[in-house]
Amino acid sequence: MMNDRLFIFDTTLRDGEQVPGCQLNTIEKIQVARALESLGVDVIEAGFPISSPGDFNSVIEISKAVTWPTICALTRAVEKDIQVAAEALQFAKHKRIHTGIGTSDSHIKYKFNSNREEIIERAVAAVKYAKRFVEDVEFYAEDAGRTDNEYLARVVEAVIKAGATVINIPDTTGYCLPSEYGAKIKYLMENVKGVHNAILSTHCHNDLGMATANTIAGVVNGARQVEVTINGIGERAGNTSLEEVAMIFKSHRELNIDTNINTQKIYPTSRMVSSLMNMPVQPNKAIVGRNAFAHSSGIHQDGVLKNVQTYEIIDPKEVGIDDNSIVLTARSGRAALKSRLTSLGVELDKDKLDNIYESFLKLADKKKDINDDDILVLAGEDRSLNKRIKLEYLQVTSGVGVLSVASLALNISGEKFEGCASGNGPVDAAIKALKKIIDRHMTLKEFTIQAISKGSDDVGKVHMQVEYDNQMYYGFGANTDIIAASVEAYIDCINKFHS
Ligand code: KIV
Ligand code: ZN
Repeated sequence: MMNDRLFIFDTTLRDGEQVPGCQLNTIEKIQVARALESLGVDVIEAGFPISSPGDFNSVIEISKAVTWPTICALTRAVEKDIQVAAEALQFAKHKRIHTGIGTSDSHIKYKFNSNREEIIERAVAAVKYAKRFVEDVEFYAEDAGRTDNEYLARVVEAVIKAGATVINIPDTTGYCLPSEYGAKIKYLMENVKGVHNAILSTHCHNDLGMATANTIAGVVNGARQVEVTINGIGERAGNTSLEEVAMIFKSHRELNIDTNINTQKIYPTSRMVSSLMNMPVQPNKAIVGRNAFAHSSGIHQDGVLKNVQTYEIIDPKEVGIDDNSIVLTARSGRAALKSRLTSLGVELDKDKLDNIYESFLKLADKKKDINDDDILVLAGEDRSLNKRIKLEYLQVTSGVGVLSVASLALNISGEKFEGCASGNGPVDAAIKALKKIIDRHMTLKEFTIQAISKGSDDVGKVHMQVEYDNQMYYGFGANTDIIAASVEAYIDCINKFHS
């Protein structure tokens, strides 16, 4: 029996990028899009062009940068959205408009103050309008997971008749059970007239931890496109992760499904997205987590040493994890660093490599072994080299029973400014000193510190959220000194609005 082809629709740059603090600039999005192309995804959802000039521009630039995947742009079932999406897609070699509307009773009543018949009319009108611009039109029935199947089938039948080529059945709230979601796809396959003129697509959110299970249930029951993100990032608890779906179908050959994913590119792509988005991958994340292939208990180690198949269902090399990787230390040269960066999906020109190498040597002086996460942090720092405000020095005294005092200097567009303050702990003192220089009404809303791996010499990562002028700004800092990392994260926020 011939295997069926499953199309991989990646929405890292649209649904994934909606995560607060994970926004990428256009250059970074192009980097991710190129990595997705070489990973072998079939469709890249590049953005929601009407939502912002940045999104519009990214869809244009991604369309120019990649060749064979279809580039998709999201819209509401609104003519203006569709016109703008078509304009943003003008340079794409293969283009798709993804339009749709909420179909559950709660969306119809509360979002649209409408009724079922009117929603079908709007859905059909949107598809017909999008067809004026592109041949390939995907329709999403938002909140399909909670939409009654009989009504959903009527919507799907109507939009296929109007010309939709792909029908997306999102479990927008991540509510469905796998059996329920699978039954929904089966119902549509069996009850929609003309269903074979289109492809049904899954789009599952992970609010109850069932996104991947629901996606697989959808495919088993007839869906032939899956909407996924790298590392499962996405709104709230995230979307279905690409790497899990790809490896499930690669491991379970009895399901007779093939994808075009070059699985050896999974790990480097995962690391690249994590590093560009400053979004750590949880250590126990399936397929790409740091511990996904680590056997720590004695019984498991003994088994693996006797025969790796005892406890390992996937060879880590299949997903691009090279366990023979060279350990980087202060004695490693540029070539070793470059090779490690390449295997992590980061390509740099000579100047950037020189900059990173310099920071690498400084870090290697403080820390014995440099791990992949450290290197990705250094590669991320390189992106902040051109920022207007930089930390020049920081000195803090603190202890038990004494007031913390910090003095620091900032370089603002080449000019040095110094400030000094005391505070309730070293971070508070340092931020007060910083605020003496940058005198704006800013409020720290969120502050997360995370050590990357192990050891007291490790690099700590800090994520911050600062409110200024009724807007939220997200910042990131990484340093072996956690106070310095905190100040860097605060400066990163300020750099986003300071001019
Ligand atoms: O989750 C969802 O319903 C979506 C649609 C906009 C496709 O992301
Ligand atoms: Zn979604």
